Parts: sequence; structure tokens; C-alpha cells
Amino acid sequence: MEKLIIRGKKDLSGKISISGSKNASLPILAATILANQATLTNIPMVKDIFTMVELLNFIGLKTKIIKKKNIIKINNNKNYINTLAPYKLVKTMRAGVLVLGSLLTKYGKAKVSLPGGCAIGTRPVDLHLFALKKLGAKIKIKNGYIIAEAKKGLKGNIIKFPTISVGATENALLAATQAKGTTILKNCAIEPEIKDLIIFLKKLGININLKERNITIKQSEIKNSKVVHNIIFDRIELGTYMIAGALQVKKNLTIDKIDPKFVKSEIAILRKIGVLITKKKSSIIIKKNKKLKKINISTKPYPGFPTDLQAQLMVLLTQANGVSKIREDIFENRFMHVPELKRMGADIEIKDKTAIIRGPTKLTGAEVMATDLRASVSLVLAGLVAENRTIINRIYHLDRGYEFLEKKLKNCKAEIKRV
Ligand code: UD1
Repeated sequence: MEKLIIRGKKDLSGKISISGSKNASLPILAATILANQATLTNIPMVKDIFTMVELLNFIGLKTKIIKKKNIIKINNNKNYINTLAPYKLVKTMRAGVLVLGSLLTKYGKAKVSLPGGCAIGTRPVDLHLFALKKLGAKIKIKNGYIIAEAKKGLKGNIIKFPTISVGATENALLAATQAKGTTILKNCAIEPEIKDLIIFLKKLGININLKERNITIKQSEIKNSKVVHNIIFDRIELGTYMIAGALQVKKNLTIDKIDPKFVKSEIAILRKIGVLITKKKSSIIIKKNKKLKKINISTKPYPGFPTDLQAQLMVLLTQANGVSKIREDIFENRFMHVPELKRMGADIEIKDKTAIIRGPTKLTGAEVMATDLRASVSLVLAGLVAENRTIINRIYHLDRGYEFLEKKLKNCKAEIKRV
């Protein structure tokens, strides 16, 4: 099994270019079921994307991946469509459940495996099903599958989500595109990735309007022509490298191919901690900071601080002066990186939903492993700032979501290799 070996304490400098967003690409790939032809550019070539493409192929779409150019072309095969998303594909990538909305609204039926739990929490799909039922779908759970039907098509409705969910908003949005009349979704997630999905759907000809946390969708005919869409940059990858810079920059680290306006809360929080950040139109420069300061924060839906950066921020706070607190408000079990960080010398205590981090502590290299994508990358960050050698096991988690991680870090003078 592959591992990463990092020799820490190397000064980072140079430039990192951010890839396209995995979490925007996945729902947009699910949305291509609605399209006739689509070309998606700036797609990160990571494992989750290949799994989603495999799922689209299974359903019967014709796909072509042009790896070197980060392009995926999709053609809808009108002769063969299979409205099934099997367990073997959905279990490795929860976003597979997003094909439910597109299949159901276009073909009037879908059978999609329940994704099951995952390392960071139970992660049910009740809110997805709640919205689809409100649109008139008949839903049964049988043998681990969601069996959804809308023989006469879906019907627009007013749906208020009791809590904010990214995936449920996306599934409801996809389903509403072909529902009769008008659908109003209230209390929606409004992550930039959802806005990117809306831009894509508008290109397909769908009439959608987003205002605050409400999305109005009017039934619209799908355009017959080819749609071209450039995926938004990955703000979580950007946040991860901003934190890498904050930990180890002696001069300057430039991070480009981004738009700072989508990461306002991340920039504000890092600045509050004492990270020196210069914003440009499509890049950010991290400079050597003086003393890092403690902070108390909670993870929140966008525009709040993202749960997907919680583990990485925690590594930074092990280097800050004083006692910091991070409350994880989105997922119930997202502190699995903590025991591993403690093995590297971090002083962290978990009380209920809150991690209490006492800093600064000297981190030292160790052999570690992680159980999810963001936890794994937090160990990479810890390895960059730790003394001696850190060995990270189970790096297949990283390959699910970080494109060219070692290459990007090596270009900035980190000592990191895959064995
Ligand atoms: C998406 C992101 C993930 C990110 C998360 C929160 C993708 C592919 N993944 O995941 O990286 O960490 O948003 O920003 O975009 N919930 C329910 N019932 C549901 C759905 C969700 O109770 O039907 C709960 C979840 O267990 C969780 C919370 O709502 O506690 C938020 O989850 P959600 O926003 O749906 O996350 P995902 O879409 O799964």
C-alpha cells in the first residue's frame, strides 16, 4: 500500500495553482444526465471524479476523459439508459446519491443505493428524500436501495429544509428542473459549489433564481445544444495550502487560479490568527507571519468557516499561542485526526463537539494514518511543520480529492515523496 513520507521543517516558497473543485464537479456531473451533450473543463483528475464517471457510464451515458487537459465530455446515449446506481459505486463515494434527482426527474424512476455511514458521521439522506417526496415522488427503501418513482412526473412545490444540507439542496435542485410548474426551495445551502451547479443548469436552459437561502426553479425545456462549463476552483484546496503556507513560509507563497471573494471567512479567520495574506484578483500571497494567536471558532454552512477545513485549521492552531477552541457544528464525529496529531506531540482535548488546542507545541514526525480525506491532509500539514520524518498511511483518502498533492508541494520546496 502506498505511503507518503515527509521530512518536515522545509521552508515553503514559490507558487501553487489550485485545481477545479471536486465538490462542484460531482453534482455537475450528476446534472449531465439532464443534458444532451456537455463539455466540462477544469475538472480535477481525482478518484471521486473517476467513480462518478464510472457511475454515469453504468447509467448509460457516453463519457470521455481527457486527463491532461482536465476535460470530461459527456454524450447522452438515447438508446440505452439504466436508472440504477449500484452499491459498489455509491458506497465508495456518497455523492453518487446525487444521480437520484436527475434520473427521477428525467425518467420518472430511479433505484439508487443508500450510501451508508461514513467515518465522519452517520450522514443520512433523509433530507434528500424529504424534498423528493414533497415533489411528488413515491419512495421505498428496499434491500439497501432507495426506489423512487414519479410515474406522471414530479410536481413543483414549496419546500423548506429543516436544516441546511449541501447534498439535499443539490438533489432537490436537480429534481426540480423538470418538475411541473414552480418549485421554491427554502433554507438551502448556498456554497459556491451550489452556485456553480446553478450556473451549469442555467446554461442547460433552466430558469433558476437564487435569493439569500431561497432557490426558485421554473420548469424549463432543456436546450438541445452542447453546453460548455468551466468548473469553479477548489476553495478547500486553497484553504489547505493557505494553512500550509501559514505553517512553513519563510518568504512568500503565491497561490493562484482562484478568486478571493469566495473565501472571505477563511481569509478573515486566518488573518485574525496572525497569518499575513495579500489578496490579488486571482491569487493570494502568504507571507512569513510573526506570532500566531489563539482563536475560538465553530464550523458553519457557507458563508461560515467550512467543516472541510477544520482538521487543517487545527494543525495551524497547534502552532498558535494560547488556548484555541474549535467547535464542529456540521458532523458529529469529525475529530479522528486528533489522536494522530497527539501522537505527533499536539496538546488537544475533545469535550463533546469542541476541540481544545493548547499551543504552541513542537510537533515531531511519527507514523500516522487517517480515516478520511480532510483528516489525511491535516496529517500532511502536520508533517510539513514537524521535526524529522512523518509517514502517512492510507493515502488513498488523499487521492479521492487532492490533485497532484506531492507535485504541488514539491514545487514549493517541501520534501515529500510517495513510496
Ligand atoms: C458536502 C460536501 C462535504 C462537506 C459537507 C458540508 C460534497 C460532495 N461533499 O457533503 O465535503 O463536508 O457538504 O459542507 O459536496 N444531513 C442529514 N440528512 C440529510 C443530509 C445531511 O441529517 O439528508 C446532515 C449530515 O449528516 C451533516 C449535515 O446534515 O451532519 C450536513 O451535511 P451535508 O451538507 O448534506 O453534507 P454533504 O452534502 O454530504
